[in-house]
Amino acid sequence: MKTQVAIIGGGPSGLLLARLLERRGIQSIVLERKTKDYVLSRVRAGVLERGFVSLMKEAGVSERLEAEGYPHGGVNISFNDDMFRVDIAALTGHSVTVYGQTEVTRDLYEAREKSGGIIEFNVEDVVINDAKSDTPYLTYSIAGQARRIDCDFVAGCDGFHGVSRQTIPEDVRTEYEKVYPFGWLGILSETPPVNHELIYASSDQGFALASMRNENLCRYYIQCSLDDKPEDWSDDAFWAEFKRRIPASAAETLITGPSIEKSIARLRSFVTEPMRWGNLFLCGDAAHIVPPTGAKGLNTAASDIHYLYNGLREYYENGSSTGIDAYSEKALARVWKTERFSWWFSSLMHRFPDQTEFDLKMQAAEIAFLKSNESAQRAMAENYVGLPY
Ligand code: FAD
Ligand code: PHB
Repeated sequence: MKTQVAIIGGGPSGLLLARLLERRGIQSIVLERKTKDYVLSRVRAGVLERGFVSLMKEAGVSERLEAEGYPHGGVNISFNDDMFRVDIAALTGHSVTVYGQTEVTRDLYEAREKSGGIIEFNVEDVVINDAKSDTPYLTYSIAGQARRIDCDFVAGCDGFHGVSRQTIPEDVRTEYEKVYPFGWLGILSETPPVNHELIYASSDQGFALASMRNENLCRYYIQCSLDDKPEDWSDDAFWAEFKRRIPASAAETLITGPSIEKSIARLRSFVTEPMRWGNLFLCGDAAHIVPPTGAKGLNTAASDIHYLYNGLREYYENGSSTGIDAYSEKALARVWKTERFSWWFSSLMHRFPDQTEFDLKMQAAEIAFLKSNESAQRAMAENYVGLPY
């Protein structure tokens, strides 16, 4: 096959890029290692920045998001029993939208299927060839049958464990990483949200987060040990621990129920530089990872797609490579700022195994400062709704 942009990975990054390009008449083929059902079964992010929502609008796939997503104009922070609200709408003039990554992906798949755009599922052994030349090509196989795609550009949207980043020679890339000494145990339950807006809770027992998907579907998390397995945690044990970590006023009204999904995510900050090698461009989790505190993973993937899409558009519409040449630098400038925010918010809210009494006092003082200082709240709110592209 032949196409203009070959996209590796049918997660949110790859699908959003394909859809945006398609609206401008730029052809692409998406290669996905798994099945569509598998991709849709992964429970991940839940909070969209305004920039993400604008991109979905531009991609012509925002109808359900606008009808069913929940705009949130505030976010709550608690420290043991003390809770305060950061009024992000008043401080920034913007809100975030609660709408699950699963739904984003479902909408993008549906649009791609309707337009007849190609997505190849169950692909194996993808190899990126001649990325430094003007005639790159991909080889791969499906059910043992060898295939090839010739293209102008390759978008590496294949997540943290994909092949795209590994294709860039080690002497060309620099990787920066911080691994956190804990994980997040998350559950999904068909119960009403404990609060109409999110609660990020710091407590003597560790971090907890109350999030939601809709009026009868909640996503709750607790900080857990890296040695824990989801099956070590019964639903009752989860609820008991979660209640201990959120303010008593919220714990009293919490409605519990059986979990319909339970998983553990490890927390990591990671960036690879550069995000371009020849005609291969890395996007989303293929290039960077943030800890989930602050909900920046999916949103940072979207800002990469914004820069790459506009660069490719400029190339195909005006013959200018200015945008694609600036891609890595522009994307990384924003990536590092969201890395900083996610690292700061994670460091502030979790209990670390080697924390001293002094460290604990510093966390408490910083939360107290955030509670009482409008400038500090504004800085947080600007990051939370999403820095401009
Ligand atoms: P992915 O979603 O990883 O998509 C990459 C796709 O490429 C996958 O479908 C994969 O199957 C495919 N692929 C991989 N290798 C190949 C290959 N060789 N060939 C073809 N296809 C390939 N973010 C938040 O903001 N909030 C959260 O609560 C949150 N929770 C998370 C929980 C977990 C367990 C994980 C892993 C991530 C979480 N994230 C969260 C991060 C967020 O989900 C990601 O930032 C987002 O999915 C990035 O999208 P992506 O398309 O770049 O990568
Ligand atoms: C979620 O709803 O899954 C979620 C929300 C906010 C976060 C992380 C995860 O910071």
